[in-house]
Amino acid sequence: MIALYPGSFDPITNGHVDIINRACKKFDKVIVAVLNNKNKKTLFSIDERLEILNTLFEDCDKIITDSFDGLLIDYAEKMQADVILRGLRAVTDFEYEMQMSMFNKALMPEIETIFMVTGNDYSFLSSSLVKEIASFNGDVSSFVPKVVVDKFKEKY
Ligand code: COA
Repeated sequence: MIALYPGSFDPITNGHVDIINRACKKFDKVIVAVLNNKNKKTLFSIDERLEILNTLFEDCDKIITDSFDGLLIDYAEKMQADVILRGLRAVTDFEYEMQMSMFNKALMPEIETIFMVTGNDYSFLSSSLVKEIASFNGDVSSFVPKVVVDKFKEKY
């Protein structure tokens, strides 16, 4: 079974890593796909985000890192993904995630979205707040992998 885990990953946090590692135990293959959205201003370029993912998961054969643009369902079809995987941090995520999964299902009925609940220790994490803390020189080392901490040091 192939799971597609899409996101902006600007940057990836320990919460995302937790979902990916747990998904690896349940699926044969996990595609971690970075959305290349040219209309969204990101701190890290698409190449930087992919470089971070490649560094993190280079030792795991089950994980494929990639980027995509356009519709998620088209990419899912191209990659022959069986399910779209998303993490739920809190009830606040639910409405948005449910709406997205329903749109995706309406556009492509064969595709299922599967949700995994984010680990307790990570349910408060968000990429934008981590970026804000890092921009003021705050310590983000318990929120993101070391490779991201090092990338922040280059940026700020
Ligand atoms: N742990 C910690 N944080 C998490 C998390 C977890 N397990 N899961 C999500 N987050 C956070 C992220 O840090 C991010 O925080 P931020 O808002 O502060 O930046 C936020 O949740 C959402 O980020 P992410 O999971 O990267 O998803 P996204 O909302 O940026 O991406 C796509 C959503 C890529 C799936 C969606 O935009 C998409 O499919 N786009 C393609 C176009 C398309 O098909 N559109 C139609 C959709 S119906």
